[in-house]
Parts: sequence; structure tokens; C-alpha cells
Amino acid sequence: MTNPVELIRRKRDGAALTREELSGLVGAYTRGELPDYQMSAFLMACYFRGMTEDEMLAFTDLMLHSGTVLDLSDVPGIKVDKHSTGGVGDKVSLLLAPIVAACGVPVPMISGRGLGHTGGTLDKLETIPGFRTDLSIDDFRRVLRDVGCVLIGQTGEIAPADKKMYALRDVTATVECIPLIAGSIMSKKLAEGIDALVLDIKTGRGAFMEKTDRAIELGSALVSIGERAGKRTVGYVTDMSQPLGTHVGNWLEVVESVECLRSGDRTPDGSADLMELTLLLSGTMIWLGGKAGSVEDGIDRSRGAVRNGAACAKLLDIVRAQGGSVGAIERLDAYPPAAHQLTIAAESDGWLSSIDALELGLSGILLGAGRKAVADRIDPLAGMVLNKKRGDAIKKGDTLVTVHASDRSRLESASTRIRAAFTVTSTKPSPQPLIVATITKEGVRTGLASL
Ligand code: URA
Repeated sequence: MTNPVELIRRKRDGAALTREELSGLVGAYTRGELPDYQMSAFLMACYFRGMTEDEMLAFTDLMLHSGTVLDLSDVPGIKVDKHSTGGVGDKVSLLLAPIVAACGVPVPMISGRGLGHTGGTLDKLETIPGFRTDLSIDDFRRVLRDVGCVLIGQTGEIAPADKKMYALRDVTATVECIPLIAGSIMSKKLAEGIDALVLDIKTGRGAFMEKTDRAIELGSALVSIGERAGKRTVGYVTDMSQPLGTHVGNWLEVVESVECLRSGDRTPDGSADLMELTLLLSGTMIWLGGKAGSVEDGIDRSRGAVRNGAACAKLLDIVRAQGGSVGAIERLDAYPPAAHQLTIAAESDGWLSSIDALELGLSGILLGAGRKAVADRIDPLAGMVLNKKRGDAIKKGDTLVTVHASDRSRLESASTRIRAAFTVTSTKPSPQPLIVATITKEGVRTGLASL
């Protein structure tokens, strides 16, 4: 390998590195031959200088091939996954995975844990007693073949270079760099053995990329990497300025997901945005998976699977296959409630004009529903249930939200912050679109565009 100091200097001065040069750096770092301080300097140079498209593609490919790349060609069907950049109350995977599998498209899903103000699918699933997300690759394959869907965490075999580098970026202020984020996300997704991918890139207060233009930039980078790897990739930029649905917190989000899957055509009012987004993403996956003639047809099929109970039955199959308690899902009321609950009421009449998703996500950490550091334990019962959503008419005294926690002092310290996250005004706010942009290999279109 060229002297790493020379490579860091060239990147620092704005040069583009070749695949061979990047390979030297990534390989040496993964093997433990390049110290953290040199990789940190390189990552910081990338942060300030960015990467060319060729560099980003090479970097992603090197991280992808730093570990096992699953070959699922022995599992029949077009395998499709979804990735979300994360948000507050974003429990879409819990609904979408069984819906898509029930419609005949296999879903091999490798998910993440919550860190910071956003939640993670694994933490939610692990609140189901016995549910295992640490399956071996052989079990991952078996469950996918038997059930049509499997949800696990990143194993040591999947993109180990990313695992090591992401931990370093986290402590060196180098996470917020679009080519590095795109490479990190796509190296893990491409290692899953998928044929196609749907991306949900969040924008707004509760999103990783708050500004819409940055979210679009990230979405375009993700779609470009997916397509260049030969996988059909569709991205939607979606609103995360208020939490999705009504429930925020790990077990609470399982409850809302199951209730939506059981609701047939009668989605609870506050969950309408959750269901609209889930159906769009599942419809797109079913279309990409070759089981629908169009996204609209995929949405109709998704609705049908919810209406006829197939999606809910598929969720029970997944829970059973991954060692979880089916009884806990069948009898949600039997789950022990949080020891402490507190309701927060409106102090004036008017309209609910905003619910600050970031503040609610950060309050979730105070309640014990999220982590400040990777090793923190989470309280499965902590969280909140929104009684009102943006645009609702409000009367003084109406319950805005019920806060749940196992620890009374945590409940009290978070409640002031939660109250301040709700803004009631005298005029009705204008509606905000849920789907902000559609991104395909052809480019970016505003709003929901037909594919
Ligand atoms: N999620 C990832 O997996 N990687 C990043 O770099 C950022 C978010």
C-alpha cells in the first residue's frame, strides 16, 4: 500500500483516490494494521472534501466485500428489502415485512438498533418475549425459505469494515458525510443477498438529514449505488417532522403495529400516516418483487393482505419462527404495563400546529426508551402514546399525549420537555405532504411520482 500519510494528504488536498488506494486503506484498517488515528484523519478529510462518484462506489464495494456477501439464489423469488434512515415512531418495518411476505415476495431484512433519538427495529422486536434477532446465517436462510421473511441484526460477518469504521465515525464527528453514510448503508444492504431495494429517506426535525435538499442528496447517492450494483432501487423522501403514527417506544410500537395489521380497513385515525407510508413502501416492494403490475396494484394487494388477515398471520409466523411468544402478540393486553403513566393536556383551545419529533425522540431517551451509548440498556415499556396529531382541533383540557415509564423520576424529568414539544395555535396549519420526493435512477421528482 502507498504510505497512508501520503493518501491522507492527497485526500486532504482534494484529490480523488483510486480503487487500489482506497482498497489499501480499507483493507489495512479492517485487518487492524492501520491505526484509528490515521483512519480518523482520512475520514475527516472525506468529510471536508467529499468523494467523487467513482470513489464512493469503490469505497462501498470494498466495505461490502470486507465480509460475507449472502447468496440467496437458492431461495425462490425476487428478494426485496426496505431501509429507512430512521425516525421517531418509525415502526414501518414491523408492518411492511409481513405484508410483503404475505403477498409472496421474500424479505431478507438486516435491521439496526436505536441510537440517539431514533428507534431501531431490533429493539422493538426484542420486546416480544423470546424473539431472537441474533440468528446464524444458516438460520436466517432457513427462516426466509420457510416463512418468506426474516429480521436479524448485523452479524460480525456482514460488512465488518463498515462496522469498525462506523464506530470510529461516531466518536470522531465524521458521521454526517453523504458518501460515507451512503457507503455504510448500502454495503450492509447489498450484503443481504437482495435483488431490489426500497429506501425511505426521512427529512424534517426528527430526521437524521433534517434539510430536504440534503435528504435528496443522500437518497440520490443511495439509489445510484444500488442501481450501479445491479439492484433495482427506489427511494422516497418522507416527512419526519412529527412522529409517525401514535406510539413511540419499543413495546408500544409493537402494539400499534399489531393493531394496524388487525384493523382491516379501519386504520385508527392517528395511525393514518403510518399506514399510508407502509402501503406505499410495501406496494413498491411487491411491484419490484414481480408480484404486482404496478405500485398501485402492489398497494391494493397490501391492503388486501391486511384486510383478509394474511399479513397478521404472517407476523405470527415470523414471531414463532424466531422464537418469540405468539401469545404476547395475540393478547397484547396481557403484557405488563409501564409502572407509571402521566397524561399531558392542552392548555388552550386551537389547532395542533406542530409536534416536534426531535424533542419527543430525545425525551424518549430520558424515559429509557432509547440509548445515549451503544452499551445502554433500554426500558421496553417506556415511551408515549399521542392522542392528537398535527392539524387536529384542540380543546383546552384534551389529552395530547400519555407518557409511560418504569421509573417515576425519569417520567417527571421528561414530561416538561414533552409538553413543550406540542404547539397549539389559533389558526389551522396547512397540511404537509408525507411524501416529499421520489428518487429513481432516472432522477428526482417532487412529491409522489408514478414509477
Ligand atoms: N446509518 C448507517 O448505517 N451508517 C451511517 O453512516 C449512518 C447511518
